[in-house]
Amino acid sequence: MFKTIKKLKIRNSKFILGNSLNELKDLETSSVDMIFCDPPYFLQLSKELRRPDMTVVKGVEENWDKFSSYAEYDEFTSLWLKECKRILKQDGTIWLIGTYHNIYRLGFHLQNLNFWILNDIIWNKVNPLPNFKGTRFTNAHEIIIWATKSKESKYTFNYHTMKKMNNNKQMRSDWSLKVCQGKERLKNEFKKTLHSTQKPEQLLERIVLASTRPGDLILDPFFGTGTTGAVCKKLGRNFIGIEKNSLYMKAAKQRIMQVEPIDTSAIEEVSNKNLLKKVPFSDLLKKGLIQPGERIFNSKKNIEATILPNGNLKFKKREGSIHKIGAYVQNKAACNGWTYWYVKSNKKMVSINDHRNLLRTENSSKE
Ligand SMILES: C[S@@+](CC[C@H](N)C(=O)[O-])C[C@H]1O[C@@H](n2cnc3c(N)ncnc32)[C@H](O)[C@@H]1O
Repeated sequence: MFKTIKKLKIRNSKFILGNSLNELKDLETSSVDMIFCDPPYFLQLSKELRRPDMTVVKGVEENWDKFSSYAEYDEFTSLWLKECKRILKQDGTIWLIGTYHNIYRLGFHLQNLNFWILNDIIWNKVNPLPNFKGTRFTNAHEIIIWATKSKESKYTFNYHTMKKMNNNKQMRSDWSLKVCQGKERLKNEFKKTLHSTQKPEQLLERIVLASTRPGDLILDPFFGTGTTGAVCKKLGRNFIGIEKNSLYMKAAKQRIMQVEPIDTSAIEEVSNKNLLKKVPFSDLLKKGLIQPGERIFNSKKNIEATILPNGNLKFKKREGSIHKIGAYVQNKAACNGWTYWYVKSNKKMVSINDHRNLLRTENSSKE
């Protein structure tokens, strides 16, 4: 059905057959909203593992997981991670998944590159492979690190979507999900498991819905069977998948072609994505809704500050964002400046939140 051509563009998504160390270099700086990385684990398996009935356990024995030393794995990791940092948008996030074999090394390089870790998620495997020899605890989880490009990034976190998906309770950092199995697990021509580490779609669905918006662009530099691509297509996101193994890439394309997009409005935070978009306070100045030098007040009008041309506020000698100054004047640790501050418009007090909503409506009607 598909030719294994090197680069195939599908609408706004892209399949790239090649080595990520080379291919990432061709991607535009600050161009993707989210990156999901499921890199080689460097498992260092030495012996064949058998079940009690002597059948062989399919582990990760492929060449893609082989490195001569930690030094080689570290060099590989720092090279692709550095490129990912360049390609990620300022407010984008990156997810790295691994096991105890590699996750600490991934975390080390991530922090060295000044990414900012938001969470580490424990993927608790509900149905893990037992420890057949009984020599250690059953290895029943993987760790997923979620990080922003920098400490200052204004990243997307769809808190309410996550809550909704978790029976209206705040989503925690321990996720109990099954490993990929049944019809979802791709098979080769001999009806054997095609890829030893195919991730479950449910895991990627949670990641994509938590940290992206419809229409966002997601990069996966270790695409494998294309789980990220399949989930992106289903949830209305675009993707770039890079995979060096042509068999996996071919299977990924076939799989993704069959995916039908679903209507996510019932689960996404707000059906109109523009309502979710961040509006910087300085946009109110740009649009002429407020003026530099204008006074801004709390609802009781007993606190007032001055709006500066850069979108900050000045209160006495202190300068800062609407949130920072709002918190300062109330002697609180935090404040939502959008709901705290008001400006005068036609002799009436107008919440700056109303101005923000006006801009959001304007933006949405343009699309
Ligand atoms: C852990 S698997 C990813 C599995 C994938 N998440 C899935 O659900 O199918 C890692 C994948 O990275 C690919 N890979 C390893 N090194 C690579 C490289 N330098 N460039 C591109 N792909 C690479 C391997 O062929 C393998 O398919």
